[in-house]
Amino acid sequence: MNTTGQIFGGNWTEQKLECVRKYLQAYTTIMSKQRFDFAYIDAFAGTGYRELILDEDINEPLFPELDNQDVVNFRQGSARNALEVQPPFGKYIFIEEDKNNYSELEKLTEEFPEKNIECIRRDANEYFKEVCGKNWKNHRALVFLDPFGMQVEWKTIELIANTQAVDLWLLFPIGTVNRLLKRNSEIRQSIGEKLNLFFGDNSWFEVFYKLANDNSLFGEEERWEKVGNIFPEIEQYFMNRLQEIFASVATNPLALRNSKNVPLYLLCFAAGNPRGAQTAVKIAQDILLKHLR
Ligand SMILES: C[S@@+](CC[C@H](N)C(=O)[O-])C[C@H]1O[C@@H](n2cnc3c(N)ncnc32)[C@H](O)[C@@H]1O
Repeated sequence: MNTTGQIFGGNWTEQKLECVRKYLQAYTTIMSKQRFDFAYIDAFAGTGYRELILDEDINEPLFPELDNQDVVNFRQGSARNALEVQPPFGKYIFIEEDKNNYSELEKLTEEFPEKNIECIRRDANEYFKEVCGKNWKNHRALVFLDPFGMQVEWKTIELIANTQAVDLWLLFPIGTVNRLLKRNSEIRQSIGEKLNLFFGDNSWFEVFYKLANDNSLFGEEERWEKVGNIFPEIEQYFMNRLQEIFASVATNPLALRNSKNVPLYLLCFAAGNPRGAQTAVKIAQDILLKHLR
């Protein structure tokens, strides 16, 4: 068994990668007819491929119904998917913080010598601070932010939006956010600070918590209580935040759910360039719609 890939995700990982792959295809087809230099930036790039999940006991694929081509697709991570899109991107930038993943990722430069690939071992948030400050007049990029958890700071998303040159696919960890929002509002200071960094300020608190009255021995007491039906609240709040900073945002993010049907992530799309934003969002929305379960 190959041990160099990353083991993660279930069926939802394929949905996520498939949506992005379809968009990349449309994106390079359109961009190759325009005058811009256009790049693919995968800021949580991983190793380039995922481990094929085998049944430990029988050493057979867990999904025998997949044919050979499906198995190949199944193994592909986001970086590799992007490298195989035709027409190609002018440049591929892969960011990965982890040492081992990074050394695996670097091998893509040997495997695809004809492609202009730059691998960078760095924190993604730091990378965008630098690159978003450059002159984007003649440049466009498709950015994919695919973290496991809440690693993407709001500041980073703002910087990306401000370039007005980026189409963004973003995995929003709605399951993690929900878990951190304690029912009784007693959120540890360090967690509160993390949520502030993640959402950009503390406005989330009064959206996700409402004042409720408690009758006690000492009369009525007020306390903060997590709102019911929290998942749509979190989704709407995040969508509103994206809409404040991007030219246009897909209004139908795809909920990626675990086997118990609980949302883990929302796959979101936002377009930064006012001129192409409507078309970009229309394409993304159509793709997302087709993946609705
Ligand atoms: C979900 S995996 C990415 C999977 C990849 N997109 C794929 O489809 O193959 C997230 C990756 O982000 C890396 N990572 C985590 N925090 C990071 C950060 N702050 N900056 C850059 N990479 C980070 C992890 O090491 C991990 O490899």
